[in-house]
Amino acid sequence: MSDLLERLQRLGEVGRTGEGIERPLFSEAEHQARTLLAGWARASGFDVQQDAIGNLFIRRPGAWASPPLQTGSHLDTVKGGGRYDGAYGVVGGLCALEALARRGVEMRHPIERVAWAGEEGSRFPKGCLGSSVYAGLTTRQQALALRGDDGMSFADALRGPSGLLAEVPVRETPRMPCGYVELHIEQGPILERNGLRLGVVTAIAGQRRLRISIGGEAGHAGTVPMAYRRDAFNAAAEIAVELERAARRIGECVATIGMVRVEPNQTNVIPGRAEIRLDVRSVDDERVRRMIDELEQLARAVRERRNVSIELEPLEERAATPLDPALRGAVRTVVEALGHPVFEIPSGAGHDAMCIAKVAPAAMIFVPSIGGASHVGHERTAPEDLQLGVTALAETLVEADRLL
Ligand code: GLV
Ligand code: MN
Ligand code: MN
Repeated sequence: MSDLLERLQRLGEVGRTGEGIERPLFSEAEHQARTLLAGWARASGFDVQQDAIGNLFIRRPGAWASPPLQTGSHLDTVKGGGRYDGAYGVVGGLCALEALARRGVEMRHPIERVAWAGEEGSRFPKGCLGSSVYAGLTTRQQALALRGDDGMSFADALRGPSGLLAEVPVRETPRMPCGYVELHIEQGPILERNGLRLGVVTAIAGQRRLRISIGGEAGHAGTVPMAYRRDAFNAAAEIAVELERAARRIGECVATIGMVRVEPNQTNVIPGRAEIRLDVRSVDDERVRRMIDELEQLARAVRERRNVSIELEPLEERAATPLDPALRGAVRTVVEALGHPVFEIPSGAGHDAMCIAKVAPAAMIFVPSIGGASHVGHERTAPEDLQLGVTALAETLVEADRLL
């Protein structure tokens, strides 16, 4: 088995639960994943560094003392996630650097492979945290103050035993890259359905996430007549179903209620409180805005009809991110040179590239996801496609090195 597949398999065991993988930022498992990566990189002769919020860098020097060309992704996962989302770009980046070193390719720019801290937002309520702080979109103080659902602050988790890696030097000042290329699995069905093995990403969808908190009245499930109820869960359910209708009507956008909390969460008690979280995305920011308008109208109507309180709290807002035309051109050139059709595809999933694109030209390469499955334990990509993606990444780094 190649180093790429072996390492992905090894990482796929780190944080494995019955359902898939669970590696939230600064958990024991996520710390172990970073430790493994640092060890593999050192064994291959690369310099390993981290920054003060847990982003992990490996570096191959170039002929110039210029800003680096970077590639990267993340090692954290959603709850029950798969073994390739994020980990593929991180391990693939290391394998690409090793391939360039083996071939003795002399590059002008230093090349850095980054494992960005906390892309998923699965522990602290903000996605792409490490890359966002790196790019200056979120301040370090804002990140340190974030609190996870387990009650622990980012600052405490960072200082804890699963925070920064011992014995890895901490670099203080981030140096913005001159370019960034992220390799990722598609996480959807489009490449596979079109019989394609590589995708050139055009743009990353914009997204908004909101917390919707509903206050009704708890009561006895057997005694309170339906007409007198103020059931918080049913209000939440009505909002969810109506938002689904709105997303279909507006088109080219997706809306998900992926988190639901009900109190007191007992079969024989009418729910007195409910919290749902909405995630809306589109590569067209206007459609996301229309969805938020729909939500506000809906909240007003449901509040009145059901006599409940409804609060909307924005958690995250990101505009759509077009990727850099010149670097996309570099990916296209490589895909053609490798003998594959050029296929341009938007990304519905968020990626660290969204943040880095704010400070440097950025591009992304996709490989297919079998059955389009991702954020689930059975996420898979064919081994030959995984290898092809790494070849495409290495060649794109060479092409970008000439271009930038
Ligand atoms: C991250 O994977 C996201 O798109 O939510
Ligand atoms: Mn990812
Ligand atoms: Mn993900």
